[in-house]
Amino acid sequence: MHSSHSKPNFIIYFIGITAALAGLLFGLDIGVISGAIEFIQKEFQITDQVIEFIVSATLWGAVFGVLVSGMLSNFFGRKKAMLLSGFIFVIGSLACAMSSTAGELIAARFFLGIAVGLASFTAPLYLSEVSPEKIRGTMVSMYQLMITIGILVAFFSDMYFGTTAFIAGSVGGHWRFMLGVVALPAIFMFFGMLLLPESPRWLFLKGFQESGVNVFRKMLLPEEEIAHEVTAIKSTLQQKQQGFQLLFSSAPFRRVIFLGMALQVLQQLTGINVVLYYAPRIFNIAGFASTSGQLWGTVIVGLTNMLATFIAIAFVDKLGRKPMMYAGLTVMGLSMGAIGWFFNSNLEQSPILGYYAIIALFLFIIGFAMSSGPITWIICSEIFPLVGRDLGVTFSTSANWFSNAIIGGTFLTMLAKLGNGNTFLVYGGLQALFIVFFYFFVPETKGVTLETIEKNLFAGLPLKKIGR
Ligand code: BGC
Repeated sequence: MHSSHSKPNFIIYFIGITAALAGLLFGLDIGVISGAIEFIQKEFQITDQVIEFIVSATLWGAVFGVLVSGMLSNFFGRKKAMLLSGFIFVIGSLACAMSSTAGELIAARFFLGIAVGLASFTAPLYLSEVSPEKIRGTMVSMYQLMITIGILVAFFSDMYFGTTAFIAGSVGGHWRFMLGVVALPAIFMFFGMLLLPESPRWLFLKGFQESGVNVFRKMLLPEEEIAHEVTAIKSTLQQKQQGFQLLFSSAPFRRVIFLGMALQVLQQLTGINVVLYYAPRIFNIAGFASTSGQLWGTVIVGLTNMLATFIAIAFVDKLGRKPMMYAGLTVMGLSMGAIGWFFNSNLEQSPILGYYAIIALFLFIIGFAMSSGPITWIICSEIFPLVGRDLGVTFSTSANWFSNAIIGGTFLTMLAKLGNGNTFLVYGGLQALFIVFFYFFVPETKGVTLETIEKNLFAGLPLKKIGR
């Protein structure tokens, strides 16, 4: 590491926080639907299947958004791609709020999803490209934290609009406000982003070296540090992105692509989003019949998710990724199993079991937030060799949204076909398989340089050994 690093200053943090707002919006859009479902279902008189379409439309939009974002952020630049995403966020959320049929709502949610996909690809990329070496990790973690804050804020806002009768004669349940209010932070993000500089790395890539250096000057980096960053950028640029070529020619590259995609699919198969999207419904199954009780419970779910993320931030570089994952997966597996077991018991006869199920639900959230939530994204940002990183991230991030959509779109059907308890038992059982997968296939990347990982990968070491 270079010795003359400056202290990160206000401008750098302004850039970091504004760009991480994209994470906030991503979280808001994930979170907001859970509290709105019940009211949408009532107003449009639609079946659970249509609700599944409404939930998953945004996720399919996100798959599409990720697939086009590599191209857009390469061609137009990271900043313009993020501005586009902010713009779609504003229009998309207003369109959701104004939908007059379920079909319109599905279309509007798909459109909004494009913004979520664009943001989830471009914002972490921009953050890692614009931040000086020393605080790169923190800047990217800030993004995951923003996602959880976004989910929490959405749950709060749902609770407010769900339970407050602020329109004369109504009893709450203002789902249009829930979906529309997200436009406000999106407007902030859009205007904030206008003030951000373009990514210096992208400027260099496109041959605008002078402008790239000027960005670092605007960030008030000392000349010596700028020279260091510029040398690093130039040496990276010599390695052209050749992802597709590698995909055909290099078996190790194909293996690591498989690993990145598998990690993202496993993250989704933990069932985290089943809990986040359908939390009020789960509280209902557990015996909490009042809407306000369900919405409050959901707020506490969001708060737990955010707070437990700090456990990961504190320990992931000390204890390592794999021990944290084993701990998290064990907690998640046992809690899902317990929820399944309680739901399979006679809840009407012993309502206390409903409370136990909710305690298990919170333990599940803690297990996820301290492990799979952040660590999946961390490992995926570490394992791909530089020459194929864009493609690797595109594949793994789309795998995340793809599996997210399948899960968001099948939960209610699973409940209906398998029964409440068995659905959770299935998710619990999966965690045991994931522990085995982590043991055999996932490398420990704590404290290993990205160059070492890359060297080990191309030397043909098994995936498990490409770290330390
Ligand atoms: C996942 C999202 C999830 C969120 C919850 C992220 O890491 O990718 O699907 O909703 O964590 O905090």
